[in-house]
Amino acid sequence: MARKCIIAGNWKMNLDPDQGFELIEGIKAGFKPKANLEVVVIPPMPLVALAAHWVTDSTLSLGAQTSSSFRDGAHTGDTSPELLRILGCRYALSGHSERRGDHHESDAQVAAQAKAQVEAGLKTIVCCGESLQEREAGVHINKIKNQIGIIYDTLPPEYWGEVSIAYEPIWAIGTGKTASPVQAQEIHKMIRDHIESKAGAQVARSTAILYGGSVKGSNAKELLGQPDIDGALVGGASLKADDFSQIIQAYEVS
Ligand code: 13P
Repeated sequence: MARKCIIAGNWKMNLDPDQGFELIEGIKAGFKPKANLEVVVIPPMPLVALAAHWVTDSTLSLGAQTSSSFRDGAHTGDTSPELLRILGCRYALSGHSERRGDHHESDAQVAAQAKAQVEAGLKTIVCCGESLQEREAGVHINKIKNQIGIIYDTLPPEYWGEVSIAYEPIWAIGTGKTASPVQAQEIHKMIRDHIESKAGAQVARSTAILYGGSVKGSNAKELLGQPDIDGALVGGASLKADDFSQIIQAYEVS
């Protein structure tokens, strides 16, 4: 069976409630649900509870940009994955490079976060990817393998089906510089092979591996057409309904 395609819009720390509402209305207006396609909106944390109402009566899914690695308790300022699920989230990101960079999240912390998310009933989208320096130094493959491998070492096997991966080369995020479809496919294939070595062929075959980094309407079709690219994690182009809808439609015609 074909893998599911996930197109997720990570709004990062952008948009106010009015803008968020308008964006979701715009996406819904142009969206024709398609078998095997899941569209996810990932607003900033303070908008999650509102957005849960905005996506009601639509087939859009809701996600969160991060969450605590604890379920609840004395963790001031953190967000419980359990609470996110209760509010209506189906997904949460873990280990976005901006979290790893700004908040020094280690591979082990990201894995703990992903574990808490799936234990709370969320699906986790684990982000990985290298900087330009790491690519140029030739250490990117090992870096990505470590980022992914620890997830399967940390999560019990019954949760492996709740994991998707997003390959987001840091040099392509917000820069307008996209990995070429060939470059992206090469890394996605390597990630799938690594998942196979950690978790077996069935898990590797069924895990969605998304690409992120300057995805837009004009390059989405070619990226999504690669055999191991199963969706997109979109930043800048997810902030306008027209731009995001073009990416969604790129899947529909591929
Ligand atoms: P851009 O699409 O703005 O490059 O951002 C990618 C990203 O970081 C999505 O999580």
